[in-house]
Amino acid sequence: METIKVESPANIAFIKYWGQKNHQLVLPNNDSFSMNLSGCKTQVTFEKQTDKKARKLLIKNYQSKEYILASDGEMIKVNDFYDTAKKYLHTDQDFGFTISSENSFPKKAGIASSAAFFSALALAFSLAWGKKLTKKQLSILARLSGSGSACRSIGDGFNWWEKGEDSDSSYAQSIASPQYWDLVDLVAILSKEEKKIGSQEGHKNVFSSPFYQFRLQDVVRRSKAITQAFIKKDFTHFGELMEEEALSMHFVMMTQQPPLYYWSGKTIELIKQLLILRNKGIEAYYTIDAGENLHLICEQKSLLKVKSFLDTNKDVQDIIINYPTEGTKLL
Ligand code: PMV
Repeated sequence: METIKVESPANIAFIKYWGQKNHQLVLPNNDSFSMNLSGCKTQVTFEKQTDKKARKLLIKNYQSKEYILASDGEMIKVNDFYDTAKKYLHTDQDFGFTISSENSFPKKAGIASSAAFFSALALAFSLAWGKKLTKKQLSILARLSGSGSACRSIGDGFNWWEKGEDSDSSYAQSIASPQYWDLVDLVAILSKEEKKIGSQEGHKNVFSSPFYQFRLQDVVRRSKAITQAFIKKDFTHFGELMEEEALSMHFVMMTQQPPLYYWSGKTIELIKQLLILRNKGIEAYYTIDAGENLHLICEQKSLLKVKSFLDTNKDVQDIIINYPTEGTKLL
C-alpha cells in the first residue's frame, strides 16, 4: 500500500475571485491575488488501495482529536475530482484510496478550507498516478477541482491568478516569496459554524447582481493599484484597496439572487471597533472571505497591538495568526 503525505495552506485573497465565465472549466471573470496562510494548513495522507472500489475520506476537524467520515456531499466532490484528475493526467489506470485530512483551522468558515484541501489533493492525486507536474500544471489541476481558489495555494508566498482565456492559460503563480513583506493575517474567529451555502453555488449567480458589471471594471483598476502598493510596500494604500475590494465582492454577494449574507452582526461590530483602533494610529485593515470571520491584516510591527485589541473583544472566540508561507508540498 502506497502512502503519500502532503500539506497545503489556505490563502486569503486581497483581490477576490467572484464569478466565472465557464463553470465547467472554473474560469474566472477577473484576476485575483492572495497570500498563503502559515497557521491555516491542511495535511492530507493519501493511501492508495488496490481495491478500486475502496474509497474513503476521513476528516479531523480543527481542535478535534478524532477522524470522522466525510459527508456524502464532500465524498462526491472528491470522486468528481478523481475523474477530473484522471482525465487531466491522461491516464487509464484506476485505484481505490483512503484519504485522511487534518485541518489546523475551522472548515467552511471563510478561511478557504476547500482551497487548502483541494490543492493538497491535486498534488496527492498526481503523485498517486506517478506524474511529476510543474507548478503551472498543478495550479491548473487544483483550479479544476471546482474550488478555483485552490490554484492560488500551490505557489509560495504571494500568488497571482491570471484569469486567462482558456484552461491552459488560467493558473496562479508566485509573484513574491514569503519573506518579501512581513504582513500578518490575524483571523478573528467569531463563529466556527459551517456556512450553509458554498461559494460554488454563489459563483453561478453573480450576473443577477446589478453591481456585478461595475465590479468587473472596477476590479481591473483596483488590481493595478494594489500591485503598485505591493511593489512599493505602501501598507496604507494597500490596506485601503484591500478593504474596498472585500466590500465590492460582498456587495455583489448580498445583491445577487439568491442573496448571500456571509456577514453577521458581530462582523460589522468588529469592523466598527477596528475603525476606532485605526483612528488611534494602529494600522490594520480587514478583508472577509465567504464567511463571517474577519481577517485583520497588519505589518509585523503592529502585531502585538492588533492581537491585544482582539484579545479584549468579547465576540472573538479564537485568533489564528498567519504569516506568508510556502505553497503545497510533499512531506
Ligand atoms: O475557490 P472557490 O471556488 O471556493 O471560491 C471562493 C472564492 C472566494 O473565497 C470567495 C474569494 C477568493 O478569491 O478567495
